[in-house]
Amino acid sequence: MSNRKTLQKLIRKELQEVKFLVVSNREPYVHSRKDDEIVVSRPAGGLALALDPVMQASNGVWIAQGTGDADRETVDEHDHVAVPPENPSYTLRRVWIDEQLQREFYNGMANEGLWPLCHISFVRPTFRPRDWESYRRANQVFADAILEEAGEEAAFVFIQDYHFALLPRMLKQRNPKLIVAQFWHIPWPNAEAFRAFPWKEEILDGLLGNDLLGFQLRYHCTNFLETVDRNIESIVNTEQSNVMRGGHETLVRPFPISIDFDAHVRTAFSSEVQADMEEWRKRLSLDTSGIEFLGIGIDRIDYTKGIPDRLQGFDYFLEQHPEYRGRVQFVQIGVPSRMEIQQYQAVSEEVEKMVDAMNQKWASGSWKPVIFLRQYFTPRQLIALHRLANFCVVTSLHDGMNLVAKEYVASRFDEDGVLILSRFTGAARELGDALLVNPFAIGEIAEAIAQAVSMKQEERRKRMRRMRRDVEENNIYDWAANILSQLLRFEISSAQAEEEEEAQ
Ligand code: F6P
Repeated sequence: MSNRKTLQKLIRKELQEVKFLVVSNREPYVHSRKDDEIVVSRPAGGLALALDPVMQASNGVWIAQGTGDADRETVDEHDHVAVPPENPSYTLRRVWIDEQLQREFYNGMANEGLWPLCHISFVRPTFRPRDWESYRRANQVFADAILEEAGEEAAFVFIQDYHFALLPRMLKQRNPKLIVAQFWHIPWPNAEAFRAFPWKEEILDGLLGNDLLGFQLRYHCTNFLETVDRNIESIVNTEQSNVMRGGHETLVRPFPISIDFDAHVRTAFSSEVQADMEEWRKRLSLDTSGIEFLGIGIDRIDYTKGIPDRLQGFDYFLEQHPEYRGRVQFVQIGVPSRMEIQQYQAVSEEVEKMVDAMNQKWASGSWKPVIFLRQYFTPRQLIALHRLANFCVVTSLHDGMNLVAKEYVASRFDEDGVLILSRFTGAARELGDALLVNPFAIGEIAEAIAQAVSMKQEERRKRMRRMRRDVEENNIYDWAANILSQLLRFEISSAQAEEEEEAQ
């Protein structure tokens, strides 16, 4: 099991001479203007939160798009700013992407094309040639910034996600000395589903520029290898999970991502969280309303998260179990996300309508079955809510990992609470003690809620204890250490191979 200290040690020992560059589209800290002041905020979504502790341990450079309206005035002449603001320990290098490029690269190609393609969701992917061209250009803009940061020295470049499939090849072509790894945070679809993608060869060639390519699950690695095998000239070795193309080897490995368990638990114990819990109690009138069970859902508003399905499940539960009417309340937090895209607006409106309809149908006296809070909350406020909730529902229709599930478990140091979890999340492979459901089956969700509210304390404790152990033992530092160790081995082995070649 790793922790921040052991990761720091590994980095100090092994990466002394080497720069460590992390690349993602979303930046970890955003500067914006509020009245006359500049405030710093953290974006919603797992990636930035998960990688920040790794970066704090590494002392490296994080290269990401500047999106805040005060981002430009807070960087120096190299577009650098030291973060985290309260305790600077690494450098954020901001990259500027203009509005049209952002529309076509991020909204268009990444989120209307690759996102639905990889999630095999029932929203049809859209592939516009103009978006692909902008995707290529945005990857180029990032490549320039990375090469500038890397300079002439040896460097590890660790790229995040589906926004940058072309970047690895671009980097390797211009500086073959770079060691390049990429982690694909979302699923990789099966080869059949991938057939629809119009620029197959180019995207696969881009990804095969990596020395190491990581996915959340072994299953996604297998899908990727099969996709490569069917679509591009290369030698795929499924047993060793690698691909040879043009004399270059790409290792393909699973690295299930996680959270900073220890830091999360420390926050959960804090007096600030106690205060936030009091706030929630008041806001939800928990002490006066006669509510016995609180259920929660916390998601970015995204059609892959199965929010309407979960509400239908709750509705069916109230129908099937009249004895619980007036006694259970469900709070759904929806953080607005990618709202420029029509399907995201549509799901947001759908959820609002469903909540109104359910409240009209079931409300009685002061009891409303569902409360929908369409806004951002701080991680601390969410931990406070986890601590109050008798059950947490995650019903993604398809999800690479889902860190909300792991966060809920980590918050429950009292070993209480029940997790209802979609079988179609990466997290379900680890958290077998959750109540696992098919999110498309409304009846299964309803029954899982019934099971959650009637579960005996001993059973809740047994399940929660095992899940907590799992998240603690496979935390974000293990994820980072496993990736780094793999990279270091690769470097050593390729150096050895070169020596052997020379000796012959
Ligand atoms: O799950 C994929 C992912 O890109 C995460 O890595 C990220 O935290 C989340 O989606 C939010 O996405 P965006 O940066 O588009 O808001």
